[in-house]
Amino acid sequence: MFSRIAGTGSYLPEKILTNADLEKLVDTNDEWIRTRTGISRRHVVVPGETTTDLAERAARKALEAAGVEPGDVDLICVGTTTPDLVFPNVGTLLQRRLGIHGCAAFSLEAACAGFLYALGVADKFVRLGDAKCALVIGADTLTRIVDWTDRSTCVLFADGAGAVVLQPAKEPGIISTHLHADGKYKDLLLYPDGVSLGFDLMRAGKAGVRMKGNEVYKVAVNTLGQLVTKTLAANGVSQSDLDWLIPHQANIRIIEAIAKRLEMPMEKVIVTIGDHGNTSAASVPLALDTGVRDGRVKRGQLLLLEAFGGGFTWGSALLRY
Ligand code: UT7
Repeated sequence: MFSRIAGTGSYLPEKILTNADLEKLVDTNDEWIRTRTGISRRHVVVPGETTTDLAERAARKALEAAGVEPGDVDLICVGTTTPDLVFPNVGTLLQRRLGIHGCAAFSLEAACAGFLYALGVADKFVRLGDAKCALVIGADTLTRIVDWTDRSTCVLFADGAGAVVLQPAKEPGIISTHLHADGKYKDLLLYPDGVSLGFDLMRAGKAGVRMKGNEVYKVAVNTLGQLVTKTLAANGVSQSDLDWLIPHQANIRIIEAIAKRLEMPMEKVIVTIGDHGNTSAASVPLALDTGVRDGRVKRGQLLLLEAFGGGFTWGSALLRY
């Protein structure tokens, strides 16, 4: 038994923040942001708009694309690091929105690798026969925890959600997933406060995403380079067999480095970062849905998905769409 993606969906908040808008907030400029990151604009939530709001819109589109009803869903697995509430989890809040009851619904935290982690977990549920219609989501509202006075991070992050429906299949589908983490890198990329720390920094207005960008960059390129090679080797697949690379959208230069490692021309890479920045766990399913809906990604094609985030956490999936 394998799992296959039966449908995809995504959603971006309506409000757009351009590089010119950011020039009014911090000492930055459009040229620096575009050349160093590839980002031109990003979508951000407005007050009252939550991760579950974005996840619901993406989920409904994925369900529609898969031709299934909310009532068919028997597993909800959400990758997010920016939940609406401490609990109930976003999966459960989404289940309520969809008007369904009883199936397992949970969120997992793996920062920007959240969707790959969710996909890896849900794939195993389906393969084992424990789910027949899994809703797998990556959704984040990182702009809620960004320090808007820190130019080195606030120009990067944005909000969004992406979703896929997984169903059982006799042929893959998802060929393999590869999930990894190394907590020794905690201090290179983190939000330094939380529930059991008492939110003291946040209350004092001293929290906010912190990143040693340069160091993260080097580890990301190196780690993702090894990951994509390992993913192909594990399946005896050659890089020339790949139809599409669907990477995490953190920095166009990282994406180009991984494409180069795979000897893939940029025409075979789905790049969305220019329009929506780094949407964390939403990034990969957003790019996938973009490629599917604009007709580039077609049924039967071989896709390589990869992501890297705080922790560090990283993961990949090789799949036939
Ligand atoms: O998704 C999770 C994983 N995240 C990532 O993979 C992100 C990895 N890191 C990166 O993408 C890049 O390191 C950044 C985009 C964050 C930064 O790019 P960089 O080329 O590594 O720049 P830098 O940090 O080395 O900074 C270069 C210069 C510095 O000025 P000096 O010291 O050379 O005078 C910064 O102060 O750019 C300056 N700078 C800015 N200038 C204008 C930093 N941020 C900005 C800004 N606007 N927004």
